[in-house]
Amino acid sequence: MGCDACRVEGMMIPDDVIEQIRDAADPVEIIGEFVDLRKTGTDYRGPCPFHGGSKRNLAVIPRKQMFFCFVCNEGGDVFSFMMKRFGLDYPHAVREIANKVGVVIPERPTGGPDPAEPLYSAVSVAADWYARRLREADDAAHARAYLKEREFDLDRLAPFGMGFAPKGPVFLKAMEKLGIADNTLLEAGLALTREDGSIRPRFWGRLLFSIHDVRGRVVGFGGRALGDAEPKYLNSPESTVFHKSQLLYNLHNAKQSIRKEGRAILVEGYFDVIRAVESGFENVVAPLGTAFSVERAKLLKRLTKEVVVLYDSDTAGKKASFRACDELLKISIRPFIATAPPGEDPDTLVRSGGPAALKQVLDDAMDVFDRKLDELERRGWLGSLAGRRRALDRLLPTLRATDDSVTRDLYISRAAEVLDITAQSIRLELNSGPGGPTRQHIAPAATTARHYRMRPDRDLINAMLHEPMCRAGIAQQLPDGTLLEQPERELFDLLCSAPPTFAGAELVEKVSPPARQMLEELLESEWQGIDFSKTVAGAVSRIQSRPLARRLTHLEGQLPFVAESEKTVLQREIAELSREISELNPTRWRAS
Ligand code: UTP
Ligand code: MN
Repeated sequence: MGCDACRVEGMMIPDDVIEQIRDAADPVEIIGEFVDLRKTGTDYRGPCPFHGGSKRNLAVIPRKQMFFCFVCNEGGDVFSFMMKRFGLDYPHAVREIANKVGVVIPERPTGGPDPAEPLYSAVSVAADWYARRLREADDAAHARAYLKEREFDLDRLAPFGMGFAPKGPVFLKAMEKLGIADNTLLEAGLALTREDGSIRPRFWGRLLFSIHDVRGRVVGFGGRALGDAEPKYLNSPESTVFHKSQLLYNLHNAKQSIRKEGRAILVEGYFDVIRAVESGFENVVAPLGTAFSVERAKLLKRLTKEVVVLYDSDTAGKKASFRACDELLKISIRPFIATAPPGEDPDTLVRSGGPAALKQVLDDAMDVFDRKLDELERRGWLGSLAGRRRALDRLLPTLRATDDSVTRDLYISRAAEVLDITAQSIRLELNSGPGGPTRQHIAPAATTARHYRMRPDRDLINAMLHEPMCRAGIAQQLPDGTLLEQPERELFDLLCSAPPTFAGAELVEKVSPPARQMLEELLESEWQGIDFSKTVAGAVSRIQSRPLARRLTHLEGQLPFVAESEKTVLQREIAELSREISELNPTRWRAS
């Protein structure tokens, strides 16, 4: 049998790797594979496989990362579970679980040195040196002033391992004194070779964020320019110890909290992480400036099933956050999107509104799919069949990315409801692949009208039908009804000029076929219990913000094509418009 453990007989697994595996292993998931576990309070219970009882006497206690049977008193951690259940010895049990959680055990002979050890130690020595430099050196005074100006306190930054890389050769001299060879500096990405063959420090006059691996070892740096130097951030290059795609900033500190909270918060920047942690949110991580990949998502998968994405609230941030969510969906993590007010990121948000502002934004996080629907509605795409067709095209990639079948079903039925298309047609589209020849399958759903806050035009007509008293008010707020879609527009005109005693039924014979169908649905529908005044207020502001939303979409589309010099003006107009729209819609549509 090709078992990993056998092949490496005689090789020892280092203790810290065993800890890393234990850390990554969720006992509920591991044991749950062999025992039917149900949640009871904070623990999970299932029938004990050791004494073979049928009652739920086996408890798995995630908090303590252990299991225990109240009848036969078997107990222990995930490793002892595998040993006892399958008769494995300790190394085999450890390797079995390492495979399950995706931790790679470094294969090296007992006692032999890890060839990467000098690199780890060089980076760690450098980190200490940089940190001291930031606190003490005269040439770091402007870096300290910069942090102060941004309202970051040096003492509170200490745990993050912030540092300062000075200009000049002083770093190289210090490393030489500490016995670190030039070659090691080069290999660890701390130095570069000049054209003439001499070496120079990689980081030059930059503020440094230490980047740690999951186990908490410093493996590299992100260096922020002070002032306008380019690039704004310079990161360590790929090396034996620094694998960018497999790192998340602050994961080593955040992992316990992510497990405890049951969710992780993903932000874009280093400063955002630090600000959030200072505000009391410890479960925060950030990718290192490149896209959030499946590989990175897998780091979180071991810890949680939910991630809240809170990116900068600009067009680029919005796009990147939807993309990050698709990566999460691919590995069955449920993504939520938190939206900061226009122009803000978590850092500026806390600076202007305090931790409470950040909490509010996080509390308001919406499931990514609902957020997408919200976005499509804001663009005014849900009113017409053609628009809904386009909207569905936008949703298909997300549906395809969704690996978890329960979540996918949920999303499909949500899409079916909101787009008024049968779930069956959506499934056909999904299976046909992008651009497949199945367009004719799109069929309106034969559901009776329901109360959707996502469909303001219909809501409005429904209110006008069932609550004649509100007709005059609505007519006043939407003077000529031009902002409405068809066939609601037609019904709107008729209802506005109708006397208050006029019940919609009399209209059925007088209107166009699509309007008639809608009218019949609405007349039959359940309307008792709907809070019409609330519905009307929400629908009216949504409809009123439509021209703004269209202009916003248009401007956002222009952004990539305008000259650099005009970008700022355009961005300002976009921010302004988004603000106006959110002012018109103070209570955004939210997932139930
Ligand atoms: P931002 O430009 O949003 O920076 O990039 P920031 O972290 O908010 O920093 P401040 O607040 O403007 O000073 C977000 C992240 O993208 C990566 C960094 O990880 C940064 O934190 N990045 C950005 C780079 O790697 N290189 C760059 O040139 C810019
Ligand atoms: Mn930012």
